[in-house]
Amino acid sequence: MARKKLIAGNWKMNGLTADGLALAKGIAAEVKALGKPQCEFLVCPPFTLLSAVKKSLRGAKVALGAQDCHYDSKGAHTGDVSPLMLTDIGCSYVILGHSERRADHGESNELICKKAISAHQAGLKTVICIGETLEERDSGQTIDVCSKQILGSVPESATAANTVIAYEPVWAIGTGKTPTAQDVEDVHAAVRKVLSKKLGKGNANKMRILYGGSVKPSNAREFLSLPDVDGALIGGASLKVEDFMAIAKNSGC
Ligand code: PGA
Repeated sequence: MARKKLIAGNWKMNGLTADGLALAKGIAAEVKALGKPQCEFLVCPPFTLLSAVKKSLRGAKVALGAQDCHYDSKGAHTGDVSPLMLTDIGCSYVILGHSERRADHGESNELICKKAISAHQAGLKTVICIGETLEERDSGQTIDVCSKQILGSVPESATAANTVIAYEPVWAIGTGKTPTAQDVEDVHAAVRKVLSKKLGKGNANKMRILYGGSVKPSNAREFLSLPDVDGALIGGASLKVEDFMAIAKNSGC
């Protein structure tokens, strides 16, 4: 089953208007220049830039995503943003359960699952993130931790059409360190097995599992040519048009 690769940029808390729009316009122009790209592209700017970036992407095959959402559609939740608000301004994706949110905001699998259900109801596709800490890796718990995160944070409403999984070892994020290609393939294959048990073989075989954590132009080919790796979630390198596009090109987009 051919899965179309997803090249996703997670801008995190980066970008004021001028540099954010320059980045979006640069990516839009490069993706247009690809003609018929073999991959799907996604950018996830901070909330403050979503509307403006949407305009800058006009006419380019680049989807827009947010980096989080609440599980309610509206109401008394000061500082939060609902899935409906995101679809309303043109988002088609939302990242959920990034390790930085799990750590900074104490997000549990249960909460992430609730958010995902609500995001799906609003018509958003979710990128649900999982990944082990260094301590968990060193004590041989990687597959166990990732399996539990999948079981707890991926809802029954997940299908290959509305859900993407991102495996991001916490210790590889923003550090320049990466697992070996074999390690990544082993985790992705194990995750697909868990997805198969949870959502059925059909969904699991079609669902995209991205790798994230210090993806760069120089290592993209190695990771993205693995059989169970269906794209990348890119942080630091997604903030430069050349690096983001070089990752895509080196991945066969
Ligand atoms: P990085 O971040 O590419 O800067 O390591 C990836 C992520 O956190 O999504």
